[in-house]
Amino acid sequence: MRPEKDILTHIINLGQEITQVKDVDLLLEKILTESRSFVNADAGSIYVKLENKLIFSHAQNTTLQKKLPPGKKLIYSTFTVPVDNLSIAGYVANNGETINIDDVYSLPDGVPYAFDKKYDEISEYRTQSMLSFPLKTPQDEILGVLQLINAMDAGGNIIPFSKEDEPFIMHFANSAAIALERAQMTRALILRMLRMAEMRDPKETGAHVNRVGAYSAVIYEAWALKKGISQQEIDKTKDILRMAAMLHDVGKVAISDVILKKPARLDVDEFEIMKQHTFLGAKLFADSHSEFDKAAFYIALEHHERWDGKGYPGNVSFNRGAEAEDFVFSTESAQPKEAEEIHPFGRLVAIADVYDALSSRRCYKDAWDESEVLNTIREETGKQFDPDMVEAFFEVIDVVRNIRKQYPDEG
Ligand SMILES: [Fe+2]
Ligand SMILES: [Fe+2]
Repeated sequence: MRPEKDILTHIINLGQEITQVKDVDLLLEKILTESRSFVNADAGSIYVKLENKLIFSHAQNTTLQKKLPPGKKLIYSTFTVPVDNLSIAGYVANNGETINIDDVYSLPDGVPYAFDKKYDEISEYRTQSMLSFPLKTPQDEILGVLQLINAMDAGGNIIPFSKEDEPFIMHFANSAAIALERAQMTRALILRMLRMAEMRDPKETGAHVNRVGAYSAVIYEAWALKKGISQQEIDKTKDILRMAAMLHDVGKVAISDVILKKPARLDVDEFEIMKQHTFLGAKLFADSHSEFDKAAFYIALEHHERWDGKGYPGNVSFNRGAEAEDFVFSTESAQPKEAEEIHPFGRLVAIADVYDALSSRRCYKDAWDESEVLNTIREETGKQFDPDMVEAFFEVIDVVRNIRKQYPDEG
Protein backbone atom coordinates (compact mmCIF):
# COMPACT_ATOMS: atom_id res chain seq x y z
CA MET A 1 0.00 0.00 0.00
CA ARG A 2 1.30 3.45 -0.85
CA PRO A 3 1.31 5.96 2.00
CA GLU A 4 -1.65 8.30 1.66
CA LYS A 5 0.51 11.41 1.68
CA ASP A 6 2.52 10.20 -1.31
CA ILE A 7 -0.64 9.48 -3.22
CA LEU A 8 -1.98 12.95 -2.49
CA THR A 9 1.24 14.65 -3.55
CA HIS A 10 1.23 12.58 -6.70
CA ILE A 11 -2.36 13.51 -7.53
CA ILE A 12 -1.74 17.20 -6.85
CA ASN A 13 1.30 17.19 -9.11
CA LEU A 14 -0.65 15.48 -11.85
CA GLY A 15 -3.39 18.07 -11.54
CA GLN A 16 -0.86 20.85 -11.98
CA GLU A 17 0.85 19.16 -14.88
CA ILE A 18 -2.28 18.65 -16.91
CA THR A 19 -3.39 22.26 -16.53
CA GLN A 20 -0.30 23.24 -18.52
CA VAL A 21 -1.34 21.33 -21.63
CA LYS A 22 -3.25 23.67 -23.90
CA ASP A 23 -4.20 21.46 -26.82
CA VAL A 24 -7.31 19.27 -26.43
CA ASP A 25 -5.98 16.09 -28.06
CA LEU A 26 -2.63 16.18 -26.30
CA LEU A 27 -4.40 16.88 -23.03
CA LEU A 28 -6.67 13.84 -23.45
CA GLU A 29 -3.63 11.65 -24.17
CA LYS A 30 -1.96 12.97 -21.03
CA ILE A 31 -5.07 12.40 -18.90
CA LEU A 32 -5.16 8.80 -20.10
CA THR A 33 -1.47 8.14 -19.56
CA GLU A 34 -1.40 9.61 -16.07
CA SER A 35 -4.62 8.08 -14.78
CA ARG A 36 -3.66 4.65 -16.17
CA SER A 37 -0.26 4.72 -14.59
CA PHE A 38 -1.77 5.76 -11.26
CA VAL A 39 -3.98 2.67 -11.00
CA ASN A 40 -1.76 0.45 -13.16
CA ALA A 41 -4.40 -0.06 -15.85
CA ASP A 42 -3.42 -1.94 -19.01
CA ALA A 43 -5.73 0.12 -21.21
CA GLY A 44 -8.03 3.09 -21.21
CA SER A 45 -10.16 5.29 -23.38
CA ILE A 46 -11.77 8.69 -23.33
CA TYR A 47 -15.13 9.70 -24.70
CA VAL A 48 -15.81 13.38 -25.29
CA LYS A 49 -19.39 14.53 -24.92
CA LEU A 50 -20.94 16.49 -27.76
CA GLU A 51 -24.59 17.35 -27.18
CA ASN A 52 -26.28 13.99 -26.45
CA LYS A 53 -23.56 11.80 -27.91
CA LEU A 54 -20.24 10.51 -26.65
CA ILE A 55 -17.44 10.48 -29.19
CA PHE A 56 -14.82 7.81 -28.59
CA SER A 57 -11.78 9.95 -29.14
CA HIS A 58 -8.66 8.51 -27.52
CA ALA A 59 -7.48 5.04 -26.60
CA GLN A 60 -4.34 3.50 -25.15
CA ASN A 61 -3.62 -0.17 -24.69
CA THR A 62 -0.27 -1.47 -23.46
CA THR A 63 -0.91 -5.10 -24.47
CA LEU A 64 -1.94 -4.21 -28.02
CA GLN A 65 0.82 -1.60 -28.23
CA LYS A 66 3.43 -4.27 -27.47
CA LYS A 67 2.34 -6.21 -30.54
CA LEU A 68 3.26 -3.25 -32.76
CA PRO A 69 6.74 -2.46 -34.10
CA PRO A 70 8.59 0.04 -31.88
CA GLY A 71 7.57 3.65 -32.43
CA LYS A 72 4.27 2.72 -34.14
CA LYS A 73 1.12 4.20 -32.73
CA LEU A 74 -2.05 2.28 -31.97
CA ILE A 75 -4.69 2.92 -34.64
CA TYR A 76 -8.25 2.87 -33.42
CA SER A 77 -11.51 3.78 -35.08
CA THR A 78 -13.71 6.53 -33.78
CA PHE A 79 -17.36 5.87 -33.09
CA THR A 80 -20.14 7.44 -31.06
CA VAL A 81 -22.50 6.13 -28.40
CA PRO A 82 -25.66 7.89 -27.26
CA VAL A 83 -25.81 9.39 -23.77
CA ASP A 84 -28.35 6.96 -22.30
CA ASN A 85 -28.40 4.10 -19.80
CA LEU A 86 -27.80 1.31 -22.33
CA SER A 87 -23.99 1.41 -22.50
CA ILE A 88 -21.52 1.76 -19.65
CA ALA A 89 -20.01 5.02 -20.91
CA GLY A 90 -23.48 6.32 -21.79
CA TYR A 91 -24.72 5.58 -18.26
CA VAL A 92 -21.77 7.36 -16.64
CA ALA A 93 -22.35 10.47 -18.77
CA ASN A 94 -26.11 10.34 -18.27
CA ASN A 95 -26.01 10.02 -14.49
CA GLY A 96 -22.66 11.51 -13.58
CA GLU A 97 -21.82 8.40 -11.55
CA THR A 98 -18.63 6.39 -11.28
CA ILE A 99 -18.96 2.69 -12.12
CA ASN A 100 -16.43 0.13 -10.93
CA ILE A 101 -16.94 -3.28 -12.56
CA ASP A 102 -14.90 -6.40 -11.72
CA ASP A 103 -15.68 -8.22 -14.96
CA VAL A 104 -17.64 -6.64 -17.79
CA TYR A 105 -18.51 -10.12 -19.13
CA SER A 106 -20.53 -10.89 -15.99
CA LEU A 107 -22.33 -7.70 -15.06
CA PRO A 108 -24.42 -7.67 -11.87
CA ASP A 109 -28.11 -8.53 -12.35
CA GLY A 110 -30.51 -5.67 -12.87
CA VAL A 111 -28.12 -3.08 -14.27
CA PRO A 112 -29.58 -1.20 -17.26
CA TYR A 113 -26.34 -1.13 -19.26
CA ALA A 114 -24.63 -3.83 -21.27
CA PHE A 115 -21.04 -4.27 -22.38
CA ASP A 116 -20.49 -4.16 -26.15
CA LYS A 117 -18.14 -7.03 -27.02
CA LYS A 118 -17.71 -5.86 -30.61
CA TYR A 119 -14.56 -3.82 -29.94
CA ASP A 120 -12.90 -6.64 -28.05
CA GLU A 121 -13.60 -8.91 -31.01
CA ILE A 122 -12.17 -6.46 -33.54
CA SER A 123 -9.02 -5.83 -31.53
CA GLU A 124 -8.64 -9.39 -30.16
CA TYR A 125 -8.51 -8.06 -26.64
CA ARG A 126 -10.29 -9.24 -23.49
CA THR A 127 -11.68 -6.41 -21.40
CA GLN A 128 -12.23 -7.53 -17.81
CA SER A 129 -12.15 -5.00 -14.98
CA MET A 130 -13.29 -1.48 -15.79
CA LEU A 131 -13.42 1.79 -13.90
CA SER A 132 -15.50 4.48 -15.62
CA PHE A 133 -15.98 7.97 -14.32
CA PRO A 134 -17.35 11.27 -15.58
CA LEU A 135 -15.17 14.26 -16.40
CA LYS A 136 -17.28 16.80 -14.56
CA THR A 137 -16.60 20.53 -14.19
CA PRO A 138 -17.18 22.39 -10.91
CA GLN A 139 -20.45 23.59 -12.52
CA ASP A 140 -21.49 19.93 -12.82
CA GLU A 141 -21.25 19.95 -16.56
CA ILE A 142 -20.16 16.57 -17.93
CA LEU A 143 -17.52 16.95 -20.63
CA GLY A 144 -16.76 13.30 -21.18
CA VAL A 145 -16.08 9.88 -19.73
CA LEU A 146 -12.77 8.33 -18.78
CA GLN A 147 -12.67 4.56 -18.85
CA LEU A 148 -9.77 2.64 -17.31
CA ILE A 149 -9.50 -1.00 -18.32
CA ASN A 150 -7.86 -4.06 -16.75
CA ALA A 151 -6.07 -3.15 -13.55
CA MET A 152 -2.92 -5.27 -13.13
CA ASP A 153 -1.18 -6.54 -10.04
CA ALA A 154 2.61 -6.65 -9.76
CA GLY A 155 2.63 -10.06 -11.48
CA GLY A 156 0.73 -8.78 -14.52
CA ASN A 157 -2.55 -10.50 -13.58
CA ILE A 158 -5.79 -8.69 -14.18
CA ILE A 159 -7.50 -7.68 -10.95
CA PRO A 160 -10.49 -5.49 -10.02
CA PHE A 161 -9.90 -1.75 -9.52
CA SER A 162 -9.41 -0.95 -5.85
CA LYS A 163 -12.31 0.87 -4.19
CA GLU A 164 -9.74 2.90 -2.25
CA ASP A 165 -8.37 4.45 -5.43
CA GLU A 166 -11.76 5.79 -6.47
CA PRO A 167 -11.67 9.08 -4.51
CA PHE A 168 -8.18 9.87 -5.81
CA ILE A 169 -9.17 9.17 -9.36
CA MET A 170 -12.29 11.31 -8.86
CA HIS A 171 -10.11 14.16 -7.68
CA PHE A 172 -7.86 13.74 -10.68
CA ALA A 173 -10.91 13.62 -12.98
CA ASN A 174 -12.05 16.98 -11.62
CA SER A 175 -8.71 18.65 -12.42
CA ALA A 176 -8.80 16.94 -15.79
CA ALA A 177 -12.27 18.34 -16.50
CA ILE A 178 -11.16 21.88 -15.66
CA ALA A 179 -8.11 21.56 -17.90
CA LEU A 180 -10.27 20.08 -20.64
CA GLU A 181 -12.80 22.87 -20.45
CA ARG A 182 -10.04 25.42 -20.80
CA ALA A 183 -8.35 23.58 -23.67
CA GLN A 184 -11.70 23.30 -25.47
CA MET A 185 -12.19 27.05 -25.06
CA THR A 186 -8.74 27.80 -26.45
CA ARG A 187 -9.40 25.57 -29.42
CA ALA A 188 -12.84 27.08 -29.96
CA LEU A 189 -11.23 30.52 -29.96
CA ILE A 190 -8.67 29.51 -32.54
CA LEU A 191 -11.36 27.84 -34.63
CA ARG A 192 -13.39 31.02 -34.48
CA MET A 193 -10.39 32.94 -35.75
CA LEU A 194 -10.10 30.34 -38.49
CA ARG A 195 -13.77 30.56 -39.34
CA MET A 196 -13.21 34.23 -39.99
CA ALA A 197 -10.51 33.24 -42.42
CA GLU A 198 -12.79 30.58 -43.88
CA MET A 199 -15.55 33.09 -44.52
CA ARG A 200 -13.04 34.89 -46.66
CA ASP A 201 -11.52 31.81 -48.28
CA PRO A 202 -13.84 28.82 -48.64
CA LYS A 203 -10.85 26.54 -49.42
CA GLU A 204 -9.53 26.82 -45.88
CA THR A 205 -12.06 24.66 -44.08
CA GLY A 206 -12.11 23.76 -40.41
CA ALA A 207 -11.43 20.14 -41.30
CA HIS A 208 -8.37 21.10 -43.38
CA VAL A 209 -6.79 23.16 -40.62
CA ASN A 210 -7.52 20.53 -38.00
CA ARG A 211 -5.83 17.92 -40.16
CA VAL A 212 -2.81 20.10 -40.91
CA GLY A 213 -2.42 20.78 -37.19
CA ALA A 214 -2.65 17.10 -36.30
CA TYR A 215 -0.31 15.92 -39.09
CA SER A 216 2.23 18.54 -38.10
CA ALA A 217 2.28 17.29 -34.51
CA VAL A 218 2.89 13.63 -35.45
CA ILE A 219 5.46 14.38 -38.16
CA TYR A 220 7.28 16.66 -35.75
CA GLU A 221 7.45 13.94 -33.11
CA ALA A 222 8.98 11.40 -35.51
CA TRP A 223 11.47 14.00 -36.77
CA ALA A 224 12.39 15.28 -33.30
CA LEU A 225 12.98 11.79 -31.88
CA LYS A 226 15.61 11.21 -34.55
CA LYS A 227 17.21 14.55 -33.79
CA GLY A 228 17.62 13.39 -30.19
CA ILE A 229 15.22 15.92 -28.73
CA SER A 230 13.93 14.82 -25.30
CA GLN A 231 10.39 13.48 -24.97
CA GLN A 232 9.56 16.21 -22.48
CA GLU A 233 10.63 18.91 -24.93
CA ILE A 234 8.76 17.14 -27.74
CA ASP A 235 5.51 17.03 -25.76
CA LYS A 236 5.71 20.72 -24.98
CA THR A 237 6.51 21.70 -28.55
CA LYS A 238 3.87 19.40 -30.05
CA ASP A 239 1.19 21.14 -28.05
CA ILE A 240 2.17 24.58 -29.32
CA LEU A 241 2.91 23.42 -32.85
CA ARG A 242 -0.44 21.77 -33.34
CA MET A 243 -2.41 24.91 -32.65
CA ALA A 244 0.03 27.23 -34.40
CA ALA A 245 -0.03 25.04 -37.54
CA MET A 246 -3.80 25.45 -37.71
CA LEU A 247 -3.23 29.16 -38.24
CA HIS A 248 -0.86 28.78 -41.22
CA ASP A 249 -3.13 30.64 -43.66
CA VAL A 250 -4.70 33.12 -41.27
CA GLY A 251 -3.08 35.97 -43.23
CA LYS A 252 -5.62 35.33 -45.98
CA VAL A 253 -8.12 37.45 -44.06
CA ALA A 254 -6.18 40.41 -45.42
CA ILE A 255 -6.35 39.33 -49.08
CA SER A 256 -9.04 40.77 -51.36
CA ASP A 257 -12.15 38.68 -52.10
CA VAL A 258 -11.65 39.11 -55.82
CA ILE A 259 -8.48 37.07 -55.54
CA LEU A 260 -9.45 34.69 -52.73
CA LYS A 261 -12.75 33.64 -54.26
CA LYS A 262 -11.66 33.55 -57.89
CA PRO A 263 -12.92 30.18 -59.13
CA ALA A 264 -9.97 29.75 -61.49
CA ARG A 265 -6.19 29.86 -61.42
CA LEU A 266 -4.71 33.20 -60.44
CA ASP A 267 -2.78 35.23 -63.00
CA VAL A 268 0.76 36.39 -62.24
CA ASP A 269 -0.20 39.69 -60.64
CA GLU A 270 -2.95 38.14 -58.57
CA PHE A 271 -0.58 35.45 -57.36
CA GLU A 272 1.93 38.12 -56.28
CA ILE A 273 -0.79 39.56 -54.03
CA MET A 274 -1.82 36.13 -52.79
CA LYS A 275 1.76 35.46 -51.70
CA GLN A 276 1.43 38.27 -49.18
CA HIS A 277 -0.76 36.10 -46.95
CA THR A 278 2.48 34.69 -45.55
CA PHE A 279 3.90 37.83 -44.02
CA LEU A 280 0.49 39.40 -43.39
CA GLY A 281 -0.28 36.35 -41.21
CA ALA A 282 3.13 36.51 -39.54
CA LYS A 283 2.48 40.14 -38.68
CA LEU A 284 -0.33 39.08 -36.33
CA PHE A 285 2.19 37.27 -34.14
CA ALA A 286 5.24 39.44 -34.63
CA ASP A 287 5.04 41.54 -31.52
CA SER A 288 4.86 38.82 -28.92
CA HIS A 289 7.48 36.53 -27.55
CA SER A 290 5.46 33.64 -26.22
CA GLU A 291 6.44 30.23 -27.60
CA PHE A 292 3.06 29.96 -29.26
CA ASP A 293 3.33 33.30 -31.05
CA LYS A 294 6.86 32.52 -32.20
CA ALA A 295 5.71 29.21 -33.67
CA ALA A 296 2.67 30.80 -35.35
CA PHE A 297 4.92 33.56 -36.73
CA TYR A 298 7.36 31.18 -38.44
CA ILE A 299 4.63 28.90 -39.72
CA ALA A 300 2.59 31.70 -41.29
CA LEU A 301 5.71 33.27 -42.77
CA GLU A 302 7.49 30.19 -44.09
CA HIS A 303 4.95 27.50 -44.96
CA HIS A 304 5.40 28.23 -48.69
CA GLU A 305 9.21 28.26 -48.62
CA ARG A 306 10.97 25.43 -50.40
CA TRP A 307 14.06 23.48 -49.39
CA ASP A 308 15.71 24.43 -52.73
CA GLY A 309 15.10 28.14 -52.12
CA LYS A 310 12.47 28.55 -54.84
CA GLY A 311 9.57 29.19 -52.49
CA TYR A 312 8.12 32.46 -51.20
CA PRO A 313 8.21 35.03 -49.68
CA GLY A 314 11.98 34.59 -49.10
CA ASN A 315 14.00 36.81 -46.81
CA VAL A 316 11.58 39.68 -46.60
CA SER A 317 12.93 42.57 -44.64
CA PHE A 318 10.96 43.10 -41.56
CA ASN A 319 11.05 46.43 -39.77
CA ARG A 320 9.24 47.94 -36.90
CA GLY A 321 7.13 50.87 -38.08
CA ALA A 322 6.21 54.02 -36.23
CA GLU A 323 3.53 52.33 -34.13
CA ALA A 324 4.40 49.43 -31.86
CA GLU A 325 2.07 47.04 -33.67
CA ASP A 326 3.08 48.33 -37.07
CA PHE A 327 5.49 46.06 -38.88
CA VAL A 328 6.63 46.82 -42.37
CA PHE A 329 7.53 43.96 -44.65
CA SER A 330 9.28 44.48 -47.89
CA THR A 331 9.58 41.81 -50.56
CA GLU A 332 11.62 44.03 -52.77
CA SER A 333 14.76 42.16 -53.81
CA ALA A 334 13.94 39.49 -51.21
CA GLN A 335 16.72 36.92 -51.23
CA PRO A 336 15.59 33.31 -51.36
CA LYS A 337 15.42 31.38 -48.13
CA GLU A 338 16.52 27.78 -48.39
CA ALA A 339 17.24 24.58 -46.49
CA GLU A 340 17.96 25.13 -42.81
CA GLU A 341 17.48 28.87 -43.10
CA ILE A 342 13.82 27.95 -43.03
CA HIS A 343 12.53 27.31 -39.51
CA PRO A 344 11.82 23.58 -38.89
CA PHE A 345 8.14 24.42 -38.33
CA GLY A 346 7.96 26.07 -41.75
CA ARG A 347 9.53 23.00 -43.41
CA LEU A 348 7.18 20.73 -41.51
CA VAL A 349 3.90 22.53 -42.18
CA ALA A 350 4.88 22.77 -45.86
CA ILE A 351 4.61 18.98 -46.14
CA ALA A 352 1.47 18.69 -44.02
CA ASP A 353 -0.31 21.42 -45.99
CA VAL A 354 0.66 20.11 -49.43
CA TYR A 355 -0.21 16.52 -48.52
CA ASP A 356 -3.65 17.62 -47.38
CA ALA A 357 -4.30 19.98 -50.29
CA LEU A 358 -3.43 17.28 -52.84
CA SER A 359 -5.47 14.59 -51.05
CA SER A 360 -8.57 16.79 -50.83
CA ARG A 361 -11.07 17.92 -53.38
CA ARG A 362 -11.04 21.64 -54.08
CA CYS A 363 -13.47 23.62 -56.20
CA TYR A 364 -10.95 23.70 -59.06
CA LYS A 365 -9.64 20.11 -58.80
CA ASP A 366 -10.48 16.58 -57.69
CA ALA A 367 -8.72 14.80 -54.86
CA TRP A 368 -5.67 12.90 -56.05
CA ASP A 369 -5.19 9.20 -55.44
CA GLU A 370 -3.08 8.54 -52.42
CA SER A 371 -0.34 6.85 -54.45
CA GLU A 372 -0.02 9.92 -56.67
CA VAL A 373 0.17 12.18 -53.64
CA LEU A 374 2.85 10.06 -51.98
CA ASN A 375 4.86 9.81 -55.21
CA THR A 376 4.81 13.58 -55.54
CA ILE A 377 6.03 14.04 -51.99
CA ARG A 378 8.80 11.51 -52.60
CA GLU A 379 9.82 13.18 -55.87
CA GLU A 380 9.94 16.57 -54.18
CA THR A 381 12.39 15.36 -51.52
CA GLY A 382 15.31 17.77 -51.51
CA LYS A 383 13.46 20.05 -53.94
CA GLN A 384 10.31 21.34 -52.33
CA PHE A 385 10.75 19.44 -49.06
CA ASP A 386 13.38 18.82 -46.41
CA PRO A 387 14.54 15.19 -46.86
CA ASP A 388 14.53 14.51 -43.09
CA MET A 389 10.97 15.81 -42.80
CA VAL A 390 9.86 13.61 -45.71
CA GLU A 391 11.41 10.59 -43.99
CA ALA A 392 9.56 11.42 -40.77
CA PHE A 393 6.33 11.87 -42.75
CA PHE A 394 6.57 8.38 -44.25
CA GLU A 395 7.33 6.89 -40.84
CA VAL A 396 3.99 8.08 -39.49
CA ILE A 397 1.92 7.68 -42.65
CA ASP A 398 -0.49 5.25 -40.91
CA VAL A 399 -1.24 7.80 -38.22
CA VAL A 400 -1.61 10.50 -40.87
CA ARG A 401 -4.18 8.34 -42.69
CA ASN A 402 -6.10 7.84 -39.47
CA ILE A 403 -6.18 11.60 -38.87
CA ARG A 404 -7.75 12.03 -42.33
CA LYS A 405 -10.56 9.75 -41.18
CA GLN A 406 -10.96 11.60 -37.90
CA TYR A 407 -11.49 14.95 -39.61
CA PRO A 408 -13.41 14.29 -42.84
CA ASP A 409 -14.45 17.13 -45.13
CA GLU A 410 -18.02 18.17 -44.57
CA GLY A 411 -20.48 17.93 -47.41
FE1 LIG B 1 -0.69 29.31 -47.42
FE1 LIG C 1 -3.69 25.29 -46.01
